[in-house]
Amino acid sequence: MLDLNAKTEFDSLDYDTLYQTCRSCVRCGLADTRTQVVVGYGPVPCDLMIIGEGPGQQEDVEGRPFVGKAGQLLTKILESVNIDREKEVYISNVVKCRPPQNRTPFPSEIEACKPYLLRQIQIVKPKIILLLGAPSLKTVLEESLSISKVRGKWYRASVDYMTDELYIMPLFHPSYLLRNQDKSKGAPKWLTWQDIQEVKTALTFYRQDDKAD
Ligand code: URA
Ligand code: URA
Repeated sequence: MLDLNAKTEFDSLDYDTLYQTCRSCVRCGLADTRTQVVVGYGPVPCDLMIIGEGPGQQEDVEGRPFVGKAGQLLTKILESVNIDREKEVYISNVVKCRPPQNRTPFPSEIEACKPYLLRQIQIVKPKIILLLGAPSLKTVLEESLSISKVRGKWYRASVDYMTDELYIMPLFHPSYLLRNQDKSKGAPKWLTWQDIQEVKTALTFYRQDDKAD
C-alpha cells in the first residue's frame, strides 16, 4: 500500500495553489503532447474520491476528468445508487496528462505525478476511495493484483487526516465495461453494479456516523 501520509514537496500548498502548480507541470514527457493538464474535479473536501488512469482525448480538450464515453458510463453507474457525481464525488487520475493514443501511462510518468495525487488525497480527505482500472490499483495498493480478483473488496489504510480508517475499493474501469457489454450474472458489468451498491452502503453509513457525532 502506498503511504498516503507521505510528505511531498507540496505539503504547504492548499488546493488552489496545488491546482495551479499542477496545471503548469513539466515533470514528464506527457507535458509535450497534452493540450492541458486535467488535475481533478469535484468538491473539496469530499467523502468519496475516484481515481482513474489518465485523461483521454475528450478530457484533454475539456480539462475535466471522465467527460468522454467512459465518463458517461461512470455517471450512470453512480446514478444507479443515487450518487450525484457533481456534488458528491471528487474525481482524478493517477496521471494528470493524456498519454498519446491513450496508451497505459509509463511507470516513470506515474512516479512523476505521484506527489500531486498524494497531496490531492491529503487535501480532499476522502473516507472512501474507488480505484478504476489496473494502473490506479497498482499505484495505490502497490501490488500486481488482477482487477477481476480484487474488485469489490475493501482495503483499508491509516491516514493522518481522520481517526477512522480510509476504505479503498478497486472496481472495473468503465472503458473495460464499454468493451464488455454482457450484463448477465457474474459478468463485469453485473459485478460493477453490485460493487457500487456496496459503496453506497458504506457512504450512507459514514453519513449517519457523522450526524451522530
Ligand atoms: N479514463 C480515465 O481513466 N480517466 C479519465 O479521466 C477518462 C477516462
Ligand atoms: N483490465 C483492465 O485494464 N481494466 C479493467 O477494469 C479490467 C481488466
